[in-house]
Amino acid sequence: MVSAAARKSLLTVRVMDLVTPTAILPLLLGCVGLFSFFKLRQRERMKAYVQDAVVVITGATSGLGRECAKVFYAAGAKLVLCGRNREALEELTKELAASQATKVQTHTPHTVTFDLADTGTVVAAAAEILQRFGRVDVLINNAGVSYRGAILDTALDVDQRVMQTNYFGPVALTKALLPSMTARRRGHVVAISSVQGKISVPFRSAYAASKHATQAFFDCLRAEMEQYAVKVTVISPGYIHTNLSINAVTADGSRYGVMDKTTAQGRMPVEVARDVLAAVGKKKEDVILAGLLPSLAIYLRTLAPGLFFRLMASRARKEQKPKHS
Ligand SMILES: NC(=O)c1ccc[n+]([C@@H]2O[C@H](COP(=O)([O-])OP(=O)(O)OC[C@H]3O[C@@H](n4cnc5c(N)ncnc54)[C@H](OP(=O)(O)O)[C@@H]3O)[C@@H](O)[C@H]2O)c1
Repeated sequence: MVSAAARKSLLTVRVMDLVTPTAILPLLLGCVGLFSFFKLRQRERMKAYVQDAVVVITGATSGLGRECAKVFYAAGAKLVLCGRNREALEELTKELAASQATKVQTHTPHTVTFDLADTGTVVAAAAEILQRFGRVDVLINNAGVSYRGAILDTALDVDQRVMQTNYFGPVALTKALLPSMTARRRGHVVAISSVQGKISVPFRSAYAASKHATQAFFDCLRAEMEQYAVKVTVISPGYIHTNLSINAVTADGSRYGVMDKTTAQGRMPVEVARDVLAAVGKKKEDVILAGLLPSLAIYLRTLAPGLFFRLMASRARKEQKPKHS
């Protein structure tokens, strides 16, 4: 009869035997092999998801949208490039055609011009896209405008303009394309929001409000679309090195025209575009693409709102009026 204590020590010895230096190496190699296999399979699935998919990108004339166009083109998507500036879209189409060949089959993009602030043109554009392609697999609501100003100084029509471009425009486009997705029980809607869709910072009221609204709408949409197998991804980047601050509207509706320090120090749009492609390929639901400080601020807003509000009030006092942050 072997006692319980003896059995336990026998088991410990056997386990220790397994963890000899000669066993560790094959074990480690096995884990690395398994990890690489799953990564490879995931990459293959991601590629297949985007290859030949009809991908609509708004705001393709500049910044993040332009870079998204490049990475989705290289991944073999059938692109529909949207913007207000026809020449800029045509120039991008030429640039894509001249770009280095990738291993996958690429497709000549189609361009559509419309203004997100004009719901009529948005709905007409959606109809044109569906007539041409018969379907949309991925809609990337990327276009947007930023804002700099104090609430006290800002005319209501400026708030409305920002909301129209960043919120009502994307909502109108999404609603116009959605029935074709639910009918096929297939489709993917992406909203490019912002860290400012999670937290509000002073002198960005209209922009932050439009991005909070975006987050809320697309969170609802995700829940309602689950039964139709339509995916929804909300992506919230931190600062990106684009013309967003230059193109921002100010309290009186004029163009801000300044490259803010924070924007200039932001991530390169091509890196963010690759993250957007990965988020779509992995069918992620909610992605924050920001550094430690903005991520901490988001948690602080939830866990210690009083402290967060005091910090924001102190920032507002320091800035007084919007300056080159
Ligand atoms: N840059 C950042 O730090 C940052 C951070 C977080 C989130 N984001 C978000 O990223 C997205 C892309 O912005 P970006 O940084 O690439 O800025 P951007 O370089 O200024 O590009 C904005 C794009 O939106 C389009 N757009 C603006 N108003 C429009 C309208 N009324 N109708 C149709 N298209 C319109 C612009 O087209 P036009 O050529 O016609 O003006 C342009 O293609 C935005 O949603 C922004 O909120 C940016």
